[in-house]
Amino acid sequence: MPSEPRPLPDPDTACEPRRIDVALGKRSYPIWVGAGLLDRAGERLGPLLALPRVLLVTDETLIATGHVERLERSLTAAGIALHRLVVPAGERSKSMTVLGDLLERMLALGVERKMTVIALGGGVIGDLAGFAAAVLLRGVDFVQIPTTLLAQVDSAVGGKTGINARAGKNLIGAFHQPRAVLIDTSVLDTLPRRELGAGYAEVVKYGCILDLSFFEWLQTGAAGLLAGDEEARVRAICRSLEIKAEVVAQDEHETTGHRALLNFGHTFAHAYENIAGYGGTLLHGEAVSVGTVQAARLSAALGHAPEGDAERLRAHLDSLGMPTEPRHLREEGFKADAVLEAMSRDKKVEGGRLTFVLWRGIGRAFVDRTVPIDALEALLIEHDRVG
Ligand code: NAD
Ligand code: GLY
Repeated sequence: MPSEPRPLPDPDTACEPRRIDVALGKRSYPIWVGAGLLDRAGERLGPLLALPRVLLVTDETLIATGHVERLERSLTAAGIALHRLVVPAGERSKSMTVLGDLLERMLALGVERKMTVIALGGGVIGDLAGFAAAVLLRGVDFVQIPTTLLAQVDSAVGGKTGINARAGKNLIGAFHQPRAVLIDTSVLDTLPRRELGAGYAEVVKYGCILDLSFFEWLQTGAAGLLAGDEEARVRAICRSLEIKAEVVAQDEHETTGHRALLNFGHTFAHAYENIAGYGGTLLHGEAVSVGTVQAARLSAALGHAPEGDAERLRAHLDSLGMPTEPRHLREEGFKADAVLEAMSRDKKVEGGRLTFVLWRGIGRAFVDRTVPIDALEALLIEHDRVG
């Protein structure tokens, strides 16, 4: 259930947002984080636009929250003309059909190269609108205004954009960095608890891969974050983004293996999502929650890390009501052979080898392309049991 509505922050008295920079040379950009930023978006984004005309992509669910109107009021007050383009909410919109229709609608409006696409929504909108911006007229600017916890801590930053294919998750896409990312923490007040939990999986991921002390803070701080405590929100979002910005700056196109650390749990998660189909029953973050526990268990089974660390992660996620077993994602669980087959189609396969992000313990992740198939199979069989 969404938490109780709170009064919106007063734009005149709201304090200065936190700023984190993604350092990518000429393509560097700022991320602003603060409550009430949506109402000041026009003044903040105006100076960045090559032309005061934007294509605002959002979804049907967001219209009902009032956030779309808040943004539009602010843009209009700053003299920015906008065209609103709405797509259906949910993972199904990351498809060729919706992308094709969106591009045709954009072109029908008479777009120009100097126009900017604004993505207002969760990871689905960011990935879809970002990819549309990457291919429209061979590339136009775009701005991310993420409205789910998942998108605020992860998908809106780093320039990965794209859609799903029948063969697998995110298999069609492009790297296209945004010009800016504007994060209004107050929009999380309307986000359903299940979606908040899904986003939390990506928050805890940062502690798992690179920051033990962040993980330790989350063991007590996560409850406040999920309950809507503003200080906990800003702290968790900003620490997540500092880690993401640093990783992206070091390995923008995921060529050295450093950025691949962000895929902790994702080899499992993408396989679960692929098997479940992209119909919206399984949330990406929920699949990641289970995937991180499986990656931790696999690390222990291969002797890379203590069993106790996997248990510590499982217990923490469990205490927050997050899914930690494949059967928590769907009643019938996932058969080991189907998971292996889905993993073999993942884009992380290199030279026929599956890529896993494992850990040597909390905060010490590494990439491994040598996982023996029998150890993986044994783990999958053990955990595809129902009950
Ligand atoms: P989502 O975009 O589907 O949003 C979840 C739901 O919440 C939608 O129904 C949406 O309309 C609604 N919603 C959004 N903001 C709201 C708000 N403030 N109040 C009420 N409802 C709101 O899901 P998501 O979890 O944000 O994103 C998942 C997607 O992100 C997946 O497709 C995943 O592959 C992708 N992703 C991409 C990257 C990347 O680097 N590009 C990283 C992680 C995940
Ligand atoms: N979410 C994984 C990445 O941005 O690389």
